[in-house]
Amino acid sequence: MSEVISIANQKGGVGKTTTAVNLAASLAASEKKVLLVDIDPQANATSGFGFSRSDYEYNIYHVLLDIKDVSDVRLKTSMENLDLVPSNIGLVGIEKEFYDKDVKGKEMILKNKLAEVVSEYDYVIIDTPPALGPITVNALSASDSVIIPIQCEFYALEGLAQLLNTVKLIKKTINPRLTIKGFLPTMYTSQNNLSKQVFSDLKQHFKSKLFVENKTSSYIVIPRNVKLAESPSFGKPIIEYDIKSQGSRAYQNLAQSILAS
Ligand SMILES: Nc1ncnc2c1ncn2[C@@H]1O[C@H](COP(=O)(O)OP(=O)(O)O)[C@@H](O)[C@H]1O
Ligand SMILES: [Mg+2]
Repeated sequence: MSEVISIANQKGGVGKTTTAVNLAASLAASEKKVLLVDIDPQANATSGFGFSRSDYEYNIYHVLLDIKDVSDVRLKTSMENLDLVPSNIGLVGIEKEFYDKDVKGKEMILKNKLAEVVSEYDYVIIDTPPALGPITVNALSASDSVIIPIQCEFYALEGLAQLLNTVKLIKKTINPRLTIKGFLPTMYTSQNNLSKQVFSDLKQHFKSKLFVENKTSSYIVIPRNVKLAESPSFGKPIIEYDIKSQGSRAYQNLAQSILAS
């Protein structure tokens, strides 16, 4: 059975793309067939795999407009078990397109388009934009679950209620099977009191929804790690850029925890 997981948080810069890319790559390295879907107009997951505009003609925008199918636009990545549906800045136009034409069932377009290929994969990971608009709604409607990265810095939990309400609403209306897979603390710095505070707040409110390491049963946190920030500029996931780095180990632990769940 395939599992579709969105990585979502309407805040920018919290580690969504880093998580989508590196979770997808870590699952693929564990011999799982993975499709990474970039549905953010900023296309950072696409460039994170070293693809630039000239490498592909069509992208998720054309899929959502039903001009192309997922199988027409997906790209093979440097990793054998990992395919990517690329995005492009042109995707910003989709919201206007949906709005102007008042497209019927527009919340379900991504789900319907993914149906063609989903059985080919063990996991489909969706990287979403920093907004709760129609694109993210499409991603959540297409998903079995959502992972919410929480940056361990200022105002981390601000806006979380709004995100949780959106998840609840989608669950109640168009996608009853949607669950919260977990909250993932990101950019954690152990010397920093604020990081500790955010993590302890998360533990207090969402203890059962934190990921735990299989072997040690300790909570999984993604450390602030310069290698994680560097790897996209080399067009590689961390597991290919520096497999032994702390960041790489943290994302491998996350993947193992998900594989065991
Ligand atoms: N654990 C980390 N350690 C260091 N830098 C990180 C980490 N996670 C993300 N970053 C960097 O922070 C920035 C924002 O992360 P990103 O994953 O793009 O967030 P989002 O997709 O939520 O906007 C990027 O430059 C990224 O490389
Ligand atoms: Mg992003």
